[in-house]
Amino acid sequence: MDTRAESRTSTRRLARAAVLGVLPALAGCAGGAPSALDPAGTGAGRVADLWWVLFWISTAVFAEVMLVLAWALVFRRRRDARVRHGQPLRFVTIAGAGIPLVVLVTVYALGLRDLAALGDGPGPRATTIEVTGHKWWWEVRVAGVAGATANELHIPVGEKVRIRLRTADVLHSFWVPQLMPKTDLIAGEVRETWLRAERAGTYRGQCAEYCGTQHAHMALLVVAEARSDFDAWRARLGAPAAQPQTDAQRRGQQTFAQGTCAGCHAIRGTEAAGRVGPDLSDVGSRWSIGAGAVPNDGGHLGGWIANSQTVKPGNYMPPQPVDAERLLDLIAYLQSLK
Ligand code: CUA
Repeated sequence: MDTRAESRTSTRRLARAAVLGVLPALAGCAGGAPSALDPAGTGAGRVADLWWVLFWISTAVFAEVMLVLAWALVFRRRRDARVRHGQPLRFVTIAGAGIPLVVLVTVYALGLRDLAALGDGPGPRATTIEVTGHKWWWEVRVAGVAGATANELHIPVGEKVRIRLRTADVLHSFWVPQLMPKTDLIAGEVRETWLRAERAGTYRGQCAEYCGTQHAHMALLVVAEARSDFDAWRARLGAPAAQPQTDAQRRGQQTFAQGTCAGCHAIRGTEAAGRVGPDLSDVGSRWSIGAGAVPNDGGHLGGWIANSQTVKPGNYMPPQPVDAERLLDLIAYLQSLK
């Protein structure tokens, strides 16, 4: 890399650090939030590049206007004859019409190019993942596989994966900032987008359309991994859930099947086949409880079962009147489902 290229890269890094540091501070966000300016996917990369073009154009225009303003403020006070006002008509034609025209046409052309690239989805044989938005969680299925999971989807890294989107109730919006721009979920319609992660990792997604009191707790996680790991995840989705191994887990399974849990939740390979709430066949391996509301550990799981309304008020799961011993069995059983 020559010196000029190096200095361009370091300027870009500096500007990026300033923007990434200042914007979240202005918005009051905590650190570690996923940023569309830190793309890891083909789609998000396009949007980020366009964003930087607009940023530099805006910066240049702002600097130019400030310079002209400073020039005017300095010279308007001088009454001596040395000040010449040039040719106002030429100045207005070039700076007021010519330059904006070039900028707008360039941005329009770049926008059209990126729009076409974002519309260039995967071929007919690509993996299809079906995502349904519910108040307030994401149901995730792989086309052709019987099972379901919630709030977490896996994709093979480096491949375009089709995401087929539906909503079970109101408007939601599927957004994984580091991978792809938003796609709205509209009642009665099947929408499609696609994801392609350029590097392995986990990427947080978020519902991006206000959908009720728990809109903020409607997160999902995209796990981009090697094709073999993805195939293993897909195989687990189609297989029965893990069998209980200890006495506590067996008692927990009984409580689950005989109590109210099975009325709303499914666990593959058991009699529990409810479709109101998330399928719990792999709940022990999930990254969170309540679509990003709390971490997935024994304490939070127990609190959620006993009274999830204190954790995520307004969600559709009523408090469960279960005694302490049966609660511990339930936790042991659910945590074993991996
Ligand atoms: Cu779903 Cu906001």
